[in-house]
Amino acid sequence: MPRSTITFVCTECGGESLRWAGQCPHCRAWNTLQEFQVRKAKDSRPRSPQSARPISLVDVDSENSPRARLAWDELNRVLGGGIVPGSLVLIGGEPGVGKSTLLMHAAAQMARSGKVLYVTGEESAHQVRMRAQRLNAIEPGILLLAENDLDAVCEAIRAEAPRLAIVDSIQTVTDAGFEGGAGSVTQVRESAARLMRLAKEVGVPIFLVGHVTKDGSIAGPRVLEHIVDTVLYLEGDRRQELRILRATKNRFGSSEEIGVFAMGENGLEEVPDPSAALLADAASALGTVIVAALEGTRPILVEVQSLVNKNQNTMVRRIANGIDVNRLHMVVAVIEKRLDLTFGQKDIFVSVAGGIRITEPAADLGLALSIVSNERNRPMPDGLVAIGELGLSGEVRRVGHLERRLHEAARHGLTRALIPAGAKAGRPSGLDVVEVRSLADAVSAAFSSPIKSGVFIEEAGLTVS
Ligand code: TYD
Ligand code: MG
Repeated sequence: MPRSTITFVCTECGGESLRWAGQCPHCRAWNTLQEFQVRKAKDSRPRSPQSARPISLVDVDSENSPRARLAWDELNRVLGGGIVPGSLVLIGGEPGVGKSTLLMHAAAQMARSGKVLYVTGEESAHQVRMRAQRLNAIEPGILLLAENDLDAVCEAIRAEAPRLAIVDSIQTVTDAGFEGGAGSVTQVRESAARLMRLAKEVGVPIFLVGHVTKDGSIAGPRVLEHIVDTVLYLEGDRRQELRILRATKNRFGSSEEIGVFAMGENGLEEVPDPSAALLADAASALGTVIVAALEGTRPILVEVQSLVNKNQNTMVRRIANGIDVNRLHMVVAVIEKRLDLTFGQKDIFVSVAGGIRITEPAADLGLALSIVSNERNRPMPDGLVAIGELGLSGEVRRVGHLERRLHEAARHGLTRALIPAGAKAGRPSGLDVVEVRSLADAVSAAFSSPIKSGVFIEEAGLTVS
């Protein structure tokens, strides 16, 4: 019986459906299903038995193929230690965030000791050269190919056998053997699958650029996530300097690492010490608290800011930038219940400095203190870092890698740390470490500098055990 060769794939989440529908059954996005042509197996003859003989695990080659290291350790870290030969890496991000810029820097670094093929389907060779000039990346080893045809791209990769090939972007190349225009789900998926096979066959690592688009008119990187070896997303506010490169999948390393960069006049620069950059203009202000968030293996000190404002309207707002808004709702509920404050007629805005996104609960305590500080008009003391997860009953829970976080705080000259009670961790010198059991504990520890103690607690009507 002939099998259907058509399915439908969501341009948002990559989910497949057998039938077209107005709404994706997987991610519930509207009008995102696109027809996808399933490639028919070319040759379905059974293989000879020899070609499928298993081998013992001990006989499998254990040599790790050497990784090519880039000059920037921020990049190496996210890649899991450097570029693995034959790997296919997807670099996703919104248009204009800096993907082409980042890859041109990477190309220049690799081209110092070999060839790099930069395929540009989006910009002309002239435009790419102009950018490279600005980035001080004019290296003779960078070969430019302005091309949209996948056959030609594959041919060039084979012929040049570069140390690294970059395809900018996957949404602009088309395989003549398939229907659909550039950027359609069929084209994007089939092109990536073909580049994957080529990368493995010739051992050339290939970086693909994938634009994230909001309107779903072209297939986004999520459609490719399960095909490629490594998925990196470049994030950051275009109006701000910092860019974060975040691994969300990595067959060759941890998928929790981030690399930090700063965009300037002459392109990107790596930021090996993000805490220093993020705390550079830290000032003790109302509602600003330093937290120690762990990104992959690395602790990063960053400020969480809150603004609590009266609102007489019926709809109050809870807006969180860089923190999950549900986390904010939970923390606010705990504050209301445990500290007897009310936010029913108040807007709360929360934001994390530098466009950083905090994904772990260890910032809860800092978030709560920042809200209390702004609400009660009590500035945070200088040099304080708050570390701890908040439980629903107001208890401060332990967090992982406390010692690393404390060392980062000490290294950056902070003087006091609030940490969960009973946590075992070495105490770095110079840091006054205060164990707190509950949010109320933390509030009295944070705001009881000699002059202000008592006053705050009286005013806020707090009972401190
Ligand atoms: P680009 O790498 O073209 O983004 P993408 O490939 O992700 O679409 O970066 C474009 C933005 O970066 C643009 O808004 C200008 C800014 N930029 C700088 O600020 N400095 C620079 O040196 C360069 C090359 C770009
Ligand atoms: Mg670009």
